[in-house]
Amino acid sequence: MRSLIRSNRMANIQLAHLRRGNYERRIAGHDFSDIAHSMLSLKRLDNIQLCVETVIRENISGDLIETGVMRGGAAIVMRAILRAYGAHDRTVWVADSFEGFPPLNLEKYPADAASDPQWHLRPQTESGLAHVRRNFARYDLLDDQVKFLPGWFRDTLPKAPIKQLAVLRLDGDLYESTMDALVPLYPKLTPGGFVIIDDYNLSMCEEAVRDYRKKMGINEEIIPIDDAGVYWRKTAEPPSRN
Ligand SMILES: C[S@@+](CC[C@H](N)C(=O)[O-])C[C@H]1O[C@@H](n2cnc3c(N)ncnc32)[C@H](O)[C@@H]1O
Repeated sequence: MRSLIRSNRMANIQLAHLRRGNYERRIAGHDFSDIAHSMLSLKRLDNIQLCVETVIRENISGDLIETGVMRGGAAIVMRAILRAYGAHDRTVWVADSFEGFPPLNLEKYPADAASDPQWHLRPQTESGLAHVRRNFARYDLLDDQVKFLPGWFRDTLPKAPIKQLAVLRLDGDLYESTMDALVPLYPKLTPGGFVIIDDYNLSMCEEAVRDYRKKMGINEEIIPIDDAGVYWRKTAEPPSRN
């Protein structure tokens, strides 16, 4: 991953910006770049590589998705790994409003009162659909194995034509956005596949994950990636608890 970042930096493309800020903090996920193609820490980028390489190596069937892509960097990494392994049978789904976070609905999702309005309600730079498509193209990774789902998760994800997932990466920060992704998508995750939660350090995201796991009887161990992200591997279908 570090060599991918360095080689693209030479071409003046910044997947993860390492020049500004504190390098150690950025590796661990304590801060992020405002201009790089991904906000993720290097540990979280490495975790994507680990999960995608594992499902390829072990033939865990299904596509890859990130819900909440901003400028596209993490989803670009997913597509790059498929390309590196010549994996032509999987799609990378790229889900975002491409216009920022939804207005908070505190009546329905009181946990989202903990969200930082400075961050969640500020305009995002260069994260519109055209920008994100262009970012994929800059790495020569925009092709028919990349499919975009523009709109609010609550509208797009339940009807997305996704059959099976091997990696489900959630990066929508809010309780609402986390739940709106887990409910329609977790049942499509193949046993042996991975779910990655980027924002487990945010109380509202953690609460959504805990509520969903409790409701569905999911007991797989939650593994920390850095000081923000976690993941687990689905070992079996959870008992149905509708
Ligand atoms: C933290 S950023 C994602 C960072 C990205 N994964 C990266 O690699 O840098 C969160 C993104 O989620 C999107 N988002 C959050 N909640 C959403 C929702 N309910 N529906 C659609 N998009 C949402 C926002 O537009 C934003 O682009």
